[in-house]
Amino acid sequence: MCGIIGYTGKKKVKDILLNGLELLEYRGYDSAGVAVVDEKTKETSVYKCAGRVADLRAVCKKQEIEATCGIGHTRWATHGGVNDDNAHPHCFGKVTLVHNGIIENYRELAVEYALEGKLHSDTDTEIAAAVFDHFYEGDPIAGIKNAVDKLKGTFAFVIMFADRPETIYSVRNVSPIVAAKTPEGTMLASDVTAIGGYTKQYFAVPEYHILEMTKEELHLFDFDGKEVKPSYVEIDFALNVSEKEGFPFYMEKEIAEQPGVIADLIAGKTKEDLPDFTEEGVADQLLYECENVTIVACGSAMHAGLLGQSLMKSLAKVPVTVELASEFMYSDPVITNQTLVIAVSQSGETIDTLEALKYAKAQGAKALSIINVRGSSIARESEAVIYTNAGPEIAVASTKAYTSQLAVFCLLALRMAYVRGKLSLDETKNYVRELKKVPDAMKEILGEKEKIHHIADGILEAKDIFMIGRGLDYAIMMEGSLKLKEVSYIHSEAYASGELKHGPLALITSHTPVIAVATQEKLLSKEVSNIREVKSRGADVVLFAKERILKEAGREYMSFALPDVKDEFMCLVAAVALQLLAYYVSSDKGFDVDKPRNLAKVVTVE
Ligand code: M6R
Repeated sequence: MCGIIGYTGKKKVKDILLNGLELLEYRGYDSAGVAVVDEKTKETSVYKCAGRVADLRAVCKKQEIEATCGIGHTRWATHGGVNDDNAHPHCFGKVTLVHNGIIENYRELAVEYALEGKLHSDTDTEIAAAVFDHFYEGDPIAGIKNAVDKLKGTFAFVIMFADRPETIYSVRNVSPIVAAKTPEGTMLASDVTAIGGYTKQYFAVPEYHILEMTKEELHLFDFDGKEVKPSYVEIDFALNVSEKEGFPFYMEKEIAEQPGVIADLIAGKTKEDLPDFTEEGVADQLLYECENVTIVACGSAMHAGLLGQSLMKSLAKVPVTVELASEFMYSDPVITNQTLVIAVSQSGETIDTLEALKYAKAQGAKALSIINVRGSSIARESEAVIYTNAGPEIAVASTKAYTSQLAVFCLLALRMAYVRGKLSLDETKNYVRELKKVPDAMKEILGEKEKIHHIADGILEAKDIFMIGRGLDYAIMMEGSLKLKEVSYIHSEAYASGELKHGPLALITSHTPVIAVATQEKLLSKEVSNIREVKSRGADVVLFAKERILKEAGREYMSFALPDVKDEFMCLVAAVALQLLAYYVSSDKGFDVDKPRNLAKVVTVE
């Protein structure tokens, strides 16, 4: 969370910072700020405000900024409310800095360095600035190292010292920072989206190393003061993320991209209709030698993991557990060197997932990850990585990243089943041929999106919504419910249909919207009974199901016919319908669909 950018070089810095912050805004968007060093006086000025980068732009427009060095920040609040004072950058003595992360021992530090009455904000960051200032005696490398030794927590700091104008320093633990040398200066940022327009080569600043950036050069030092050579990597994916291509919101654009993303993904990870991960370096050994699988992930990625679990269990007959990454290491997980741990993450930066993966590795597990963003922290921590290649996902609500994770799980479960001898060559190929029908089914739904828009109109005013399903449909509903609540702010709960009578049925009253998905033939009769149970208690049921199932259930519901693909893959199809439902509810309510309140795209705090 929080987006950071820094530049020092020949170019005017104001637009570099503001444009970069706009690209990073999906990381956090409750306040924004910049600190710039005046070209003539070498004085540092800070401009910051609560609100979006657009608000900061308006603040900066009123200023005469003549600077070629500066740092910027877009905030997702952790310590201290959302107001101008708590926005970054923060200054203390000779230090001006921005921060992504959490300093856990900030209270103790405030006491130790007698900061009471000297602070202007309620943030842990300003206290950290005071600690950096305390240890700075003219040698930035020594000062930073000594200050960092005092800090507990996660951090990416970008620091300027008043007597070192136009030089930028950075140090990090867990929270990411990437850096690059461009033809006209040096740059750093929280992720490559903000620097991709200036360079194709960058490196991730290693943890507990100090980066020093001057206008001409950058240097990396370890904590012994020894210079270290950065490991540069190429940006090998398109960075044209700023275009909505005519769509009002990124979320709608990203939903619409799914048929193409899934078709490309299947094509790229199969050979002659057999799932194949050799190009990504995933050895079959990893898939047949493990005795059990543990999936760790958060949010939508965890929901993709639930579907992966069902598929791996039913097709490959492997015991699989799915764990919320944030709970994983506190739950005494049973992990051995026979465990394959699979971390799933769009950003590859979610700290809970990263920490869970590190924990499992320390217990001896082999680590595979399913990631969208190349070169991200989780990818670097894994022995093998399957990239989803969904392209940049900008909307906070995950759509194409989620379905691409599902598609990877479908192929992974099939490959596992094949190499473990649970499916024959022909059976595996038949499954893949069926999976290839998914992109067309997704297109069909997109062609009928106005019908879903109409359904959305019917639930706009709801206060509470229940989303029910059985088996794979329950896992789909957990994601459908998350999507709805995160973008529409309507309270919704996903329930396994059979569980309703054990409690939640008490909440069903006349006209409570209940959304049901029924895609699994083998569960049909039981699912239909559960739907009738809520209907007979007065619920307004919306049923998403295959045409045949709709007939069986009876036509008395508001309904949407899902195109028919193999039951195991219906999750990919139903997901698109549920995403559209959430999207239309949010946009019709007039919300900023891409930036739901209180959320951020990349969650780098625990
Ligand atoms: O980047 P990750 O996939 O690790 O992110 C995990 C969750 O934070 C993410 O899926 C979140 O739940 C989305 N906003 C859901 O739409």
